[in-house]
Amino acid sequence: MRVDNAASRPSVARGVSTDNVAKVRPLIDWDHVRAEVVEWEKRKWADLPPIKKHFYVESKATSSLSQVQVDAWRKENFNIVCDDLKDGEKRPIPNPTCTFEDAFQQYPELMKSIKKAGFQKPTPIQSQAWPIVLQGIDLIGVAQTGTGKTLSYLMPGFIHLHSQPISRGQRNGPGMLVLTPTRELALQVEAECSKYSYKGLKSVCIYGGGNRKEQIQDITKGVDIVIATPGRLNDLQMNKFVNLRSITYLVLDEADKMLDLGFEHQIMKILLDVRPDRQTVMTSATWPDSIRQLAKSYLKEPMIVYVGTLDLVAVNTVKQNIIVTTEEEKRSLMQEFLQSLSPKDKVIVFVSRKLVADDLSSDLSIQGIRVQSLHGNREQCEREQALEDFRSGQAKILIATDLASRGLDVNDVTHVYNYDFPRNIEEYVHRVGRTGRAGKTGVAVTLMTRDDGKVATELIQILKRANQSVPEDLLTMAEQYKSRKERNDPGKKSRRPQGKAKDFH
Ligand SMILES: Nc1ncnc2c1ncn2[C@@H]1O[C@H](COP(=O)(O)OP(=O)(O)OP(=O)(O)O)[C@@H](O)[C@H]1O
Ligand SMILES: [Mg+2]
Repeated sequence: MRVDNAASRPSVARGVSTDNVAKVRPLIDWDHVRAEVVEWEKRKWADLPPIKKHFYVESKATSSLSQVQVDAWRKENFNIVCDDLKDGEKRPIPNPTCTFEDAFQQYPELMKSIKKAGFQKPTPIQSQAWPIVLQGIDLIGVAQTGTGKTLSYLMPGFIHLHSQPISRGQRNGPGMLVLTPTRELALQVEAECSKYSYKGLKSVCIYGGGNRKEQIQDITKGVDIVIATPGRLNDLQMNKFVNLRSITYLVLDEADKMLDLGFEHQIMKILLDVRPDRQTVMTSATWPDSIRQLAKSYLKEPMIVYVGTLDLVAVNTVKQNIIVTTEEEKRSLMQEFLQSLSPKDKVIVFVSRKLVADDLSSDLSIQGIRVQSLHGNREQCEREQALEDFRSGQAKILIATDLASRGLDVNDVTHVYNYDFPRNIEEYVHRVGRTGRAGKTGVAVTLMTRDDGKVATELIQILKRANQSVPEDLLTMAEQYKSRKERNDPGKKSRRPQGKAKDFH
């Protein structure tokens, strides 16, 4: 790229002449630089084939729905809301696909695997996401935990991939990339890809701790879909083992987590090599204010679909119990709880630190209780074994850090036990959602101590939104925290009436 080099010239030659000020030239011609960047970007992607994105043919049943019927359907399905985030003139919001046939009647192979799975009808997010994504429109999909967001992006992704104008061989690299925050979730999504395998599309999971050599071999042999954690993908990308230029369909699952501080940098590096005219889908059960603006820079004229509200909500099939206690009492409370379980029950106990996970699991093992643990200090093979034992029911208790809070789908988890409250309120919603999935019911028990006072108010809101009872102790805790804060920071209260606080929202 050519940049005006004026700044590096000796000062006498910079055109700063005392006798003719009008001749002063800007040190850098920014318009020129910008134009060059645009040109460079164009050249960078010039050799790539065009992308085909629109595959949607609205069924007769879908197109004949009246607005009243559409509104009623959305309302009945937990109040589906859809909004076009494109600036200027808005596009029409497609009617929801009320049956699987409405979305996929032209794809009998997909219909077959849906039938095989035994599903009755699309979940709310699926019914509204499919007609949008199948039209090639970028999407932000926000819906409660365990409500089928994975298939909401995988199914249209399969169709997109198989229907591109160039052959898989010509593509010379994967066509679809799904990024997830944890290795276990990446493996699970890969398993879903294989389960619903479409037209022989090949998928591979690229994740840290997994065999790097094998992953490189798999990629070299040729794959269609890569499901990856960002760190390992960065590694293979930098070492030129994977070509990301061929990707036309990109998914950020658990997108709010992926755009959070821990991952943003890695994602940006990955996206430098992904063509900007790709289709992008982001999904999560939580969509905090802090990432909403940032997310827009990764999407092009997206639509957003959410179910119910964008406020924090735990899934309504879980009964949420809160116990306010002290640090000292936690262990005996947990023991009592575990003893009260029936042999059919399966529980994830969430703790905040790896050390606590180890400590609790050895404690329980000594008592002869079979437990498994999942946290970042364990070897990857131990992590995978732990989850496998828990999935198969060999271990009925899994002690885990927040590594297990997002996306994991173990369908017969009956209880979630929050031994420690999570550092971040979003994770509470995700943890609770490890139970009560796909319409099943579940119970979450959460221990809280005085130290958790700062989240009490938000937690009360979450409980109220799900029509759960709010214990007196929790209300007191929120009040006490508020007055402590006001005592420690008296200035804050008096500043508010001057209207300053508003500037921060
Ligand atoms: N239409 C459907 N009907 C019934 N079950 C479904 C349907 N679609 C998906 N499922 C099942 O629901 C379960 C949860 O799906 P999935 O893991 O995609 O949820 P999610 O919305 O991604 O949850 P999370 O926010 O926890 O990641 C899975 O076992 C999946 O097979
Ligand atoms: Mg998910």
